[in-house]
Amino acid sequence: MHPRGAVLVYTGVMKTTTTRVRRAGARQLLIAGLLAGMLLIILASLVRPGSGPARVGLRIDADDAALVSAGRTLYASHCASCHGADLAGAADWQTPLATGAMPAPPHDASGHTWHHDDAYLIAVTREGGAAFTPGRPNGMPGFAGVLSDRDIVAVLSFIVSTWPPEIRQAQARMNAP
Ligand code: HEC
Repeated sequence: MHPRGAVLVYTGVMKTTTTRVRRAGARQLLIAGLLAGMLLIILASLVRPGSGPARVGLRIDADDAALVSAGRTLYASHCASCHGADLAGAADWQTPLATGAMPAPPHDASGHTWHHDDAYLIAVTREGGAAFTPGRPNGMPGFAGVLSDRDIVAVLSFIVSTWPPEIRQAQARMNAP
């Protein structure tokens, strides 16, 4: 074969091989991408709001004296400024503010904290209220990064411990068995 012909055949073979390698590379990249995506979805489902404390065996327990006592201190330093030192909430808490946000509600039996199950109370305290009131501003800050999961469970245990027995029972019934 003429040397130039050999060079042409060689270049041709190289081109096809490169294209094949590139295609195989693209396929591997696609598979890696899909796997990474699936991993992300699994991870996201593990860290969804509210699932954390339950996963590490933490739960609201108003009969745990140590938890309630720690929660009382945490409530005074982190929650009382808005929800009231006596848990009575902001004045006129049922009237929306000019911004459309609601004032801080009471955490005693006169409010609606006890209308919710434990998972919701933990999630709101941890992540903040905004995710739960789409379409209107929400003044409840998230305490993730400020309070540990144990702190959050402690402060909520303190709140529950202040309720009369019938309110505690009504709220407990809302928790899935
Ligand atoms: C900066 C003020 C502020 C602080 C501090 C604050 N909250 Fe709130 N919180 C609010 C407001 C305002 C709402 C009402 C949100 C809404 O519905 O728009 C709220 C709502 C809540 C709710 C939901 C009640 C329900 O019935 O839906 C919980 C639970 C709650 N707060 C717990 C806490 C705890 C526990 C702390 C302390 C660790 C705390 N909050 C600190 C302002 C605050």
